[in-house]
Amino acid sequence: MATNLETIVNFSTQKGFVFPSSDIYGGFAATYDFGPVGILLKKNLEAAWRYWNVTSRTDMVEIEGAIFMHPKVWEASGHIGGFSDLLVEDLVSHRRFRADHLIEDAGVMENAGALTPEQVDDVIAEHKIKSPDGNSVSKAKRFNLLVKTHLGPVEDDSSLVYLKGESCQNIYLDWKATQMVTRRKLPFGIAQIGKAFRNEITVKQFLFRTREFEQMDVQFFCKPSEADAQYEAWKSNRWDFYTKCIGLKEENVRWRQHELDERAFYAQDAWDIEYKFGEIGFKEVEGVHHRGSYDLDQHAKFSGQDLSYFDPETKERYNPFIVECSGGFNRLFLLTLFEFYREEEVTTAKGEKETRIVFGAPYDLAPFKIAILPLMKKDGLADKAWELYEGLRKQGISADYDESGSIGKRYRRQDEIGTPWCVTIDYDTLESGTVTLRHRDSMEQVGEGGRIAIADVAKYLSKEQFGK
Ligand code: GAP
Repeated sequence: MATNLETIVNFSTQKGFVFPSSDIYGGFAATYDFGPVGILLKKNLEAAWRYWNVTSRTDMVEIEGAIFMHPKVWEASGHIGGFSDLLVEDLVSHRRFRADHLIEDAGVMENAGALTPEQVDDVIAEHKIKSPDGNSVSKAKRFNLLVKTHLGPVEDDSSLVYLKGESCQNIYLDWKATQMVTRRKLPFGIAQIGKAFRNEITVKQFLFRTREFEQMDVQFFCKPSEADAQYEAWKSNRWDFYTKCIGLKEENVRWRQHELDERAFYAQDAWDIEYKFGEIGFKEVEGVHHRGSYDLDQHAKFSGQDLSYFDPETKERYNPFIVECSGGFNRLFLLTLFEFYREEEVTTAKGEKETRIVFGAPYDLAPFKIAILPLMKKDGLADKAWELYEGLRKQGISADYDESGSIGKRYRRQDEIGTPWCVTIDYDTLESGTVTLRHRDSMEQVGEGGRIAIADVAKYLSKEQFGK
């Protein structure tokens, strides 16, 4: 596992997992692009999440909602009124900072997010906390996190819209239509992977806190009397998702319950799953919230529509309670890099010691499953290798091809991006139709005498299923 963020930032940008966005213009405030290796990891993480939360279950369906929504949604949801952080401004440099982060970074307390503006002012005065620029700061004031824009040809109050502050709102609006078209009875859930935008006062720690990110949501609708039991069941499910499906070590994951005054305005109870991001320490990756019927009540009130459910068993009509599991995709991606990055000392064929970097992700998550490496470009070896490469890709196997540099260097390159298998095409291949197949972790070649028939390569590729 990696211990520091700088290692992960350098590793992921150099190996094509993540690029700083708008880099040729000097970059743009914590925006990132997924590179050619990163997008494969992203799709695999999404597939793992979808398998665990939707396709392997019988009580879940999935939707994908629009980013633009009616502005009233954000009024009803409470985000226009209550979705804010406290900021303080450096009185000399005029840079703005999140007040709770300033207090936490000064080591005064751990979770300062629940403090009122007056309490923040008192703590800052008592502990003489300065801005990171070393100057005194202003009094704390509230700052709304919704990102605003205008839609249409006129830019006035009538065209003001908000980008989604939390992705899940589409699910609440679509819940009744979804229940009706799928003819579901409670309990059942709706999943969504969707974009969210927050005008964060400060963005930091690479992918950890950005202004544009994706959320992976499960919103589980249940009878009010069953909500507490469902809440517990989903908490246990989330633990298993991170430790079994993604394969994180239990010592790197923990729960933290929100204090009463720290909870979001919609939550009756809230627990975070936290991951240990090396030296940074434990940080939130997913929030599990008991939302009661808050959201459906609010949208029913603001839209004037009936969003209730008719319970065929009790013959009652009510707004279901919602258990929410809301994970941040960027944080899942970042923790995957932390968890599976490793450096190990190995001895080369020449007897020299060197450090091998391995991205040891499980097979399901590995960006490429196999790489095809011709020993030489000449004498038809590259043609033979290319034929195998094309054939595997046509079978839908995520395969890579590399013909540049020594075989040793090419193995290392594939170890770094997590490829479990490397095939070498050599002169024996042309004569006997056999190849070497080397595994990333053991660095051993499989098969009798270290060779297998070229036709058997695909058989060696693991058919592991997520979470098995
Ligand atoms: N619908 C509930 C909700 O939005 P949240 O705890 O505010 O709850 C859920 O967000 C998850 O979204 C967090 O646990 C975190 O992983 C991710 N997240 C929130 N803000 C983020 C940011 N600025 N950058 C990256 N991820 C973020």
